[in-house]
This record gives sequence, C-alpha cells and structure tokens, in this order.
Amino acid sequence: MSAYIQGRNVNLTFRPPNRRPVRALQNFDIDVNEGEFLSIVGPSGCGKSTFLNVLLGLAKPDSGDIMLGGKRIEGPGTDRAMVFQEFGLLPWRTVQSNVELGLELKGVATETRREVSQRLIEMVGLVGFETHYPHELSGGMKQRVGLARALATDPDVLLMDEPFAALDAQTRDLMQVELLRIWQEAKKTVLFVTHQIDEAIYLSDRVMVMTKRPGQAKKIFAIDLPRPRDYEMRVTREFNDLKLEIWNELKDEITSR
Ligand SMILES: Nc1ncnc2c1ncn2[C@@H]1O[C@H](COP(=O)(O)OP(=O)(O)OP(=O)(O)O)[C@@H](O)[C@H]1O
Ligand SMILES: [Mg+2]
Repeated sequence: MSAYIQGRNVNLTFRPPNRRPVRALQNFDIDVNEGEFLSIVGPSGCGKSTFLNVLLGLAKPDSGDIMLGGKRIEGPGTDRAMVFQEFGLLPWRTVQSNVELGLELKGVATETRREVSQRLIEMVGLVGFETHYPHELSGGMKQRVGLARALATDPDVLLMDEPFAALDAQTRDLMQVELLRIWQEAKKTVLFVTHQIDEAIYLSDRVMVMTKRPGQAKKIFAIDLPRPRDYEMRVTREFNDLKLEIWNELKDEITSR
C-alpha cells in the first residue's frame, strides 16, 4: 500500500529576477503514513519550509510527484493547515476572529464558527482572551492562537514550521505536551519542522534528517519509544542514544558547507 503522503523526486528551484537561481529541493523523497507524527530536521536553508509550502499547495515543484491520500496536490485545500513560526496572525483581528478565519473563508455560519472557536480556545487555554488582539498576547499565547486556527477547519494534515521556536523553554515544553495530546485526540497527520533534535524525538514516530541545500532526504530514524511520553523520557539512555545518532547525521551537513 502506498503512503498517505508521498513525495517522489521532488525538485524545486527558485528563480528570483536578477539573481542566481537557488536550488532548494533535489530529488526529495518522503513517505508519511496516515496519522503519523513525522519531524524533519536539517541545516538552515536546506529546503524544509519550501517542502511544507509545496505540501500546502503554495509552492509548485519543477518536477516530481506529491500525492496526498492518492491524489496529486494541485493547490491549497482545507484538508491541510500550516502553523507558522511567526504565528501569522492578523493583527486587526481578535483572538476569536483569528481562530475563525479559515471557517469564515469556508463560509461556515456564525453560530457554528463560534462553537468551534470556543471549543478550541478552551483547548489551548485562552479562555478570557477571546476579544484580545495579537499585540496584547505573549509569544506563547500567539502560538496557541495559531494552533487553534490551524485546527479550526479540522484538517487531516497539520504542517508545522518551527512552531515553537520563538517560545521560552518552559512554554515550549508545555506546548509540546499539549500538541501530543491534541494529536492523539484528533488523530491528525503531522509534519513538524524543528531545529531541536530533542523536540523531534520527543514528539515523533519518525525523524527525517535532510542534507544541506539542495535538500534531499538523508536518513530516517524510527523513534520506537513508548507512548504516552513523559518528560522523564528525555533523560533515558535510549533517548540520548537516538539524540547522538541523529546529531551525528546532521552534524556532517552543517559542518561541510
Ligand atoms: N521565495 C523565495 N525566493 C527565492 N529563494 C527562496 C524563496 N524561498 C526560499 N528560498 C531559498 O530556498 C532555500 C531554502 O529555503 P527554506 O526556507 O526552504 O529553508 P529552510 O530549510 O526552511 O531553512 P530554515 O531552517 O532557516 O528555516 C534558501 O536558500 C532560500 O534562500
Ligand atoms: Mg524554514
């Protein structure tokens, strides 16, 4: 059986006017199973965000195949949602109306929108902040709004581009726990990009290491640690062995520029 998300030989070169072309992805292959949590780590500029944009349907590869549930990805769709590193919230909209954005675009009735947004606002712990604007929130709170907004349209696939990078260490830990809970409850397929190997191992079923640009899949690690996962797991021998293995694979890509 073929994988839920399947990328084969994906090539993408950016051709900015009056600049040299940049080859971002080269023969990039990936398989993601339905309901899987897969993380991608790789050097800065290796094409991780580019690949998520291809999956989202915003970037078009020059060649190669990208399939989702047996269908070729031709453009954006409500079966996929992205959580961005910079939150991507609309500053003139309140928490509630940011969360409801995707539902509005889908033409969902006000009453239903309210029900969905209220449930998600509760889920991410922002009750009482419904009418606040993004500038009145902390980074962690903005990130929660971004997560709630992505979940509002009930997508099958969550694309997460370094979603916790701007958070302080403790908030980040809490958000990781929260994300695992949501993932387990809502049974989404998650593609998660991060620079933190710890975070990738802790969250994932598998971790992919990419080469430096032009990005290729270098190696995939299966994370056979039991779930549910707890914080203590991060100090176990198995966890740290994996961390070292992944680091060794990644290190070569970072140091051989
Ligand atoms: N819209 C664009 N136009 C031109 N070049 C681009 C564009 N977007 C990305 N690139 C280039 O493509 C390459 C891959 O970028 P990408 O954002 O995918 O990297 P990344 O792996 O997400 O890096 P980081 O870890 O720093 O976020 C980079 O060299 C970048 O300069
Ligand atoms: Mg990026």
